[in-house]
Amino acid sequence: MRAIVLPETGGPEQLKVTDLPRPRPGEGQVLIRAQAIGVSYAETQIRAGALPFPLSLPAVLGAEAVGEVVEVGEGVGAELLGTTRVGVTGGLGSYAEYVALPAAMTCPVPEGVTPADALAVAAPGAIALGLLHRARLEGGETVLVEAGTSSVGSQVVRHAKEFGAAKVIATAGSAAKRARAGELGADVVLDHSSPEWPGELPADVDVVFESIGGSSARRVLDHLTPGSGRMLYYGLLSGEPAAVTAADLMERGVTIVGCSGPGWAGEVFGMRYPEMLARLGSGRGEAFIDRTLPLEEAAQAHHLLESRAVTGRILLIP
Ligand SMILES: NC(=O)c1ccc[n+]([C@@H]2O[C@H](COP(=O)([O-])OP(=O)(O)OC[C@H]3O[C@@H](n4cnc5c(N)ncnc54)[C@H](OP(=O)(O)O)[C@@H]3O)[C@@H](O)[C@H]2O)c1
Repeated sequence: MRAIVLPETGGPEQLKVTDLPRPRPGEGQVLIRAQAIGVSYAETQIRAGALPFPLSLPAVLGAEAVGEVVEVGEGVGAELLGTTRVGVTGGLGSYAEYVALPAAMTCPVPEGVTPADALAVAAPGAIALGLLHRARLEGGETVLVEAGTSSVGSQVVRHAKEFGAAKVIATAGSAAKRARAGELGADVVLDHSSPEWPGELPADVDVVFESIGGSSARRVLDHLTPGSGRMLYYGLLSGEPAAVTAADLMERGVTIVGCSGPGWAGEVFGMRYPEMLARLGSGRGEAFIDRTLPLEEAAQAHHLLESRAVTGRILLIP
């Protein structure tokens, strides 16, 4: 089968089209013939060796895929054969024509929804729902969504008011993306391309969905409502962890909620993933696809993500 192999960390050109044997599904797994594969920003950081991630090289990157089940492993019912399922690998391995997925981490594609739309929305939408549930918004609260047109950020902006946010502030790095954040439901959109952007925030942001990290996270903290403000910390787009100390939290009486790790993944992929697909199936969710590219153009997909030329998902089509 055709697959995209990373022999060593480095630039996008490291992603090589390679012939590999078709994998066999292990115990509890299904093997799908992929119809679409998700590419995410975090994978560009893993490829570059810029994220602390246990990577054994050569590796096939990729965590998301949708397609028809062509084989089932031990312990998986044969009734899944021939069905179309969307899911995550729980690690790597999806930039390929055939992808083995734990059956428990797959869901059927809802009726009336295209496989590509289901794939595009499921993972970032599930993460967004996980963040919104954990934020425990109370009526009248103001939220800040950094990178408000990123795959995850756009889903947070799209659903925040349903979860009780009264005012949504988003950030984006270009005029076109700022306009897009407004269309998604943001009331105020700030330009995060200037390092001074946190200075434009009001003094009483109740919840920040923090995905940039570095020093801006520290500056945002100064605008969280003293005593009750929450930072839902889930990403480090800047490549730098949020420069926040326990003393910073104590001084303002605010809380950081870490949204990563095994407990988080269990909640997101066990509960929020099917919840997001159900929303999509019933018209209460939307997929935002920037473009599709052939599987062979995985390097170009990484290049586009890194150059921030993307608003929505990039999907690879084998
Ligand atoms: N904890 C979790 O479970 C989890 C799961 C998935 C993703 N994440 C994290 O969530 C974050 C967003 O991921 P995504 O897949 O939604 O991203 P994405 O769709 O690739 O969007 C990334 C966008 O973020 C903006 N951005 C802001 N500051 C940036 C910076 N310093 N470097 C690069 N881009 C920057 C850029 O838009 P502008 O042009 O507007 O600057 C860029 O286009 C990542 O940090 C990712 O690792 C966490």
